Amino acid sequence: MTQDELKALVGRAALAYVVPGEIVGVGTGSTVNKFIEALASVKDTIPGAVSSSTASTERLQALGIRVFDCNEVGELAVYIDGADEIDPRGCMIKGGGAALTREKIVAAQSRRFVCIADESKRVEVLGGFPLPVEVIPMATQAIVRRFAAQGGEAKVRLRDGAPLVTDNGQHILDVTGLRIADAAGFEAEVNQWAGVVTVGVFARQKAAVCLLGTSRGVVTLDF
Ligand code: A5P
Repeated sequence: MTQDELKALVGRAALAYVVPGEIVGVGTGSTVNKFIEALASVKDTIPGAVSSSTASTERLQALGIRVFDCNEVGELAVYIDGADEIDPRGCMIKGGGAALTREKIVAAQSRRFVCIADESKRVEVLGGFPLPVEVIPMATQAIVRRFAAQGGEAKVRLRDGAPLVTDNGQHILDVTGLRIADAAGFEAEVNQWAGVVTVGVFARQKAAVCLLGTSRGVVTLDF
């Protein structure tokens, strides 16, 4: 099976976690795009979705799925999103699509995080994938130096030769050279650095379940 087929497989499998009558939290990325396509087939059974990015909002609305603002709704039963890496405890690196801040906000508002990913995302220790960190631009170089002191190399993410601007009007640093064994401790520490908006380690908002697309079918990991 191709990676695209594995993403479609887990996107469809995630429908089993959508609670009829409840608004569903929807993440961002190519795997979630497959979930959104599948969600359209059951859209009459839910009031709608809360979205973690402009890109997902546009896709949901194009398929006739109502999108609610976070502030209009209370706690969500489930949040469904992809990951760039997931470790044996369900901690993740996220933000490859630059939507990490809104993803963390919607995940924090949800009782259960269901991660959908192909098996290439499963790792023993986080850090192989460059860690996305959303930052306030005036703090960029100070944060670059702090990562350098930890052995990390942080680079500003570019789009068309200029710093990428997130949905929140900020920039993204991608940090290589890290080995994040204590995901919760690392997340808590970097969150304290002045100018960091969101660090792309999801340990506090870790996955409760991961639907992993493998050549043998969907493997369900419970954490
Ligand atoms: C978006 O900002 C990310 O957190 C995505 O969830 C993550 O990058 C996974 O994306 P894919 O499903 O496209 O691999």
